[in-house]
Amino acid sequence: MKTIDENKSIKAYNTFGVECFSEYFTRVNTEEELQEILLKKSFTKKFILGGGSNLLFTKNILGLCIQIDLRGITVVVENEDYVVLEVQAGENWHEFVVWTIDQGYGGLENLSLIPGNTGTAPIQNIGAYGVELKNNFVSCKAVDMESAEIREFNLQDVAFGYRTSIFKTTLKGKYVITSVQFQLTKKKHKLKTSYGAIQKELGSKAITPKSISEAVISIRERKLPDPKIIGNSGSFFKNPIIKKEEFKILLKKYPNIPFYKTNNSDVKIPAGWLIESLGYKGYKKGDAGVHKGQALVLVNYGNASGQEILELSQEIQKKVKETFNIDLKIEVNIY
Ligand code: EPU
Repeated sequence: MKTIDENKSIKAYNTFGVECFSEYFTRVNTEEELQEILLKKSFTKKFILGGGSNLLFTKNILGLCIQIDLRGITVVVENEDYVVLEVQAGENWHEFVVWTIDQGYGGLENLSLIPGNTGTAPIQNIGAYGVELKNNFVSCKAVDMESAEIREFNLQDVAFGYRTSIFKTTLKGKYVITSVQFQLTKKKHKLKTSYGAIQKELGSKAITPKSISEAVISIRERKLPDPKIIGNSGSFFKNPIIKKEEFKILLKKYPNIPFYKTNNSDVKIPAGWLIESLGYKGYKKGDAGVHKGQALVLVNYGNASGQEILELSQEIQKKVKETFNIDLKIEVNIY
């Protein structure tokens, strides 16, 4: 039986670095261990912890916190053109991406340096520089939190969207992802360099999965705070998607507003621009703040509580609503 700690600090296990205690805490290394603990009905409340990188704790955890630490990468299918890999949920996402690039596989390069674990990456369909996890996703295995039965989800089942999936909507809190399968190219890579910042960073360098990964790492290191140094959870808000008609009104008032067309009727606005225009970039209130290099990222300068960070985010949401009439939605999971 796994050891169960009591009143364990979770500060080191959340990239925001906020203090939080879990009533009970355990770590599982295999699917069987996970099933066994899920079936233990003495703990009425159970909380699943992955890499802790998209999470803000505003209160202590009641019940049992289960940290998912399943490891390993296996080749499921391989031919001349592509490979299908099965990755266990506890594998660190960026270390996995770097490993694929070292093997010469293409597909995940744009998703370099995203914090967190592989098992939690599908929940919010992580994305960056024109690529989303769903582009290479084949399937995932997940364990039912109630019955401990294993279920396989294919691409359609997961219903990916912009920073969302079925695990964030109808099945929220119902399944624990234990492994994910990805299909990656061995040749004829479909490299995406349309994102301006990548093109600029690459300059005249040859375009390969490795050079793109290096470019992405440089851009991210410049713009985004390293959670090992300054606590954060990446983008705190989603970029809002608004109707074309509403956008036209905004554009009249703010001719410099950046935007991307998502389809014929909707426009996506960078939330970072909205927040920066309100003067919040680099703002600090106690130890809670807005990152100086990217206004979409809220930071913990040391001893901010989750509640203080949440309050700052609510202040920003209120100002954005008053000024632009836009509802900013929080991307990070709030506990
Ligand atoms: N901008 C500002 N001020 C800022 C930040 C952004 O004016 O402080 C404007 C600029 O016009 C800039 C544009 O926003 O050109 C886009 O900025 P950026 O390229 O940094 O991307 P983003 O839309 O702010 C999204 C993702 C990031 C991802 C980048 C790159 C979301 C919620 N965030 O940010 O993802 O790395 O694109 O693809 O979609 C994350 O989810 O944690 C994350 C970091």
